[in-house]
Amino acid sequence: MITDPEIDLYIDQYKTQSSSLLLDLERATHLQVLAPQMLSGQTQGNLLSILSTMMRPQRVLEIGTYTGFSAICLAEGLSPHGLLYTIDVNNEIEDIARKYIERSPKAAQIQFLVGDAKTIIPTLKESWDLVFIDADKESYSLYYEMVVDQVRPGGIILADNVLWYGKVVQEEKDKKTRLIHEFNVMVSKDHRVKNVILPLRDGINVIQKL
Ligand SMILES: C[S@@+](CC[C@H](N)C(=O)[O-])C[C@H]1O[C@@H](n2cnc3c(N)ncnc32)[C@H](O)[C@@H]1O
Repeated sequence: MITDPEIDLYIDQYKTQSSSLLLDLERATHLQVLAPQMLSGQTQGNLLSILSTMMRPQRVLEIGTYTGFSAICLAEGLSPHGLLYTIDVNNEIEDIARKYIERSPKAAQIQFLVGDAKTIIPTLKESWDLVFIDADKESYSLYYEMVVDQVRPGGIILADNVLWYGKVVQEEKDKKTRLIHEFNVMVSKDHRVKNVILPLRDGINVIQKL
């Protein structure tokens, strides 16, 4: 998205192929759901799966399920008794997300919660190993503050779309871009964490709790 289209194509070509479940879900999302560009997709999905598998997390939180693609990827690395909570406010995507999450080998370890993340997160009294922030971009700073103290030392927060089509570097910023930029500035100055922005797809902020 922000990289040269030729480089994107190359990255896309030389990656491991996703499972048939994820390919089916990607197809169904493009055919049946509005705004399919919101889906993480195969390349980012592989990154989420690799990070999760490296960490073997006990507790994962995802804010923004959409059709369940990234939840299925993040669940791939769960430890045997691990749990992944994924939250989405849009009940119109509930059926498709549940249908595909149920086909995941980790289905029994995935809790799909429908509602506003701002009200659901405070009810989850967990210590997080891995958090994926991928909901309404205006609320990234709020979600971050809601979870950061509950992330264990060494745990990871991933925030998606932090380069916002490359608009974060423009002088004139619209409201959404300004709020994403402010989130990135805030994280870079937060002494509780160490971070790096990866320019993959639309930019992923990888934030480690110290
Ligand atoms: C970019 S999509 C998530 C994509 C998904 N993580 C993936 O990679 O396939 C963002 C989702 O956040 C959800 N969302 C927006 N505001 C929310 C809120 N306040 N609470 C929970 N979910 C919200 C939207 O309904 C949408 O499905």
